[in-house]
Amino acid sequence: MRHLMVELGDRRYPIAIGPWLFDDHDLMTRDVASRQVMIVTNDVVAPLYLTKVKSHFDDRQLETIILPDGEAFKTMEAAMTIFDRLLQHKFSRTAHLIALGGGVIGDLAGFAAACYQRGIPFVQMPTTLLSQVDSSVGGKTAVNHALGKNMIGAFYQPKAVIADMSTLSTLKDRELSAGLAEVIKYGLIRDLQFFEWLEVNMEALVARDPEALASAVERSCQNKAEVVALDEREMGERATLNLGHTFGHAIETGLGYGAVLHGEAVAIGTLLAADLSCRLGYLKVTDIERIKRLLIRARLPTTVPPGLSPHDFLEHMAVDKKNVEGQLRLILLKRIGEAHLPMQVELNLILQTLSSAIALH
Ligand code: NAD
Ligand code: GLY
Repeated sequence: MRHLMVELGDRRYPIAIGPWLFDDHDLMTRDVASRQVMIVTNDVVAPLYLTKVKSHFDDRQLETIILPDGEAFKTMEAAMTIFDRLLQHKFSRTAHLIALGGGVIGDLAGFAAACYQRGIPFVQMPTTLLSQVDSSVGGKTAVNHALGKNMIGAFYQPKAVIADMSTLSTLKDRELSAGLAEVIKYGLIRDLQFFEWLEVNMEALVARDPEALASAVERSCQNKAEVVALDEREMGERATLNLGHTFGHAIETGLGYGAVLHGEAVAIGTLLAADLSCRLGYLKVTDIERIKRLLIRARLPTTVPPGLSPHDFLEHMAVDKKNVEGQLRLILLKRIGEAHLPMQVELNLILQTLSSAIALH
């Protein structure tokens, strides 16, 4: 088992990474210090892992809530369903939530934990690669709004993260690839050595080699934990974790939540951000090709899907959380391995990037 800490003073918390962690009773119960426990999961993950996770809490007042699967259900209504059940069962402020699932469940259950009685403890038990390398760490919790992704939310840290890597064996190939988009992101924004390691090991990762996957999860979490410890509330460096996300969120919102996976949208958005970085003179064309090759080897899409015009993009990008007083700000790359803090970019250049990507259809 590999251990990391997210260093946030008296809110510091551990990340455990390894196979079969959901079988480890001491680990599973260590940070769930309440008689009242609610497990939040969905109808894909529940048949796979709920019985095992529940077995550790059969001496508690245990409730489980099984939501419909998918990004389209990361909503205020789903959060209300959790609040309803917490209240119906008279769960108090000391109750603990467990988020068992991918990033959708983690963000949603985390948001519910942040709001219920102004905040109750929760533990992240991520079961997708994307949630193990990114969303379960760092305390960003949210639900979507029809007009913008993750627009309603809170910074609210979990008590612990338990990433059982054995759960990745049941993940669809497409979902594994979506997680790799966020893994590649860490290499691009702050860790050239890791990017180079990914260039050597991508086939092993796609083939789910356990050692390679464990190393990638650990290095990703290490990067994320460092950034979050430096800048928990995204006043500076944390924004770089959004490389490709402004374009990506526009794709997700524009095409309807769930049409393109989050990680896929991030991959496409990353290439758009690379193109823009090139237009501004930071990256070389060969750098864009190098990034694209790695994304393709990770079996990720690299072209903008049909159905979105440059105008659609700009409309959705206008509600990005990095924007300040109506000004669009983007994360661009200085070079492979280093990102700029959010930058205002001339609209004209953004339009050039979008138009040339969309003209490829
Ligand atoms: P997801 O939660 O929808 O999971 C992907 C699919 O895999 C779902 O169908 C899910 O039910 C299924 N699944 C989960 N675990 C499984 C397993 N072990 N075996 C088989 N199937 C399994 O999507 P995701 O990619 O995990 O997360 C995407 C979400 O995370 C987005 O909403 C995104 O906005 C959010 N996100 C948040 C942060 C953050 O910092 N909070 C960071 C990145 C992404
Ligand atoms: N996934 C972006 C962040 O956590 O800040």
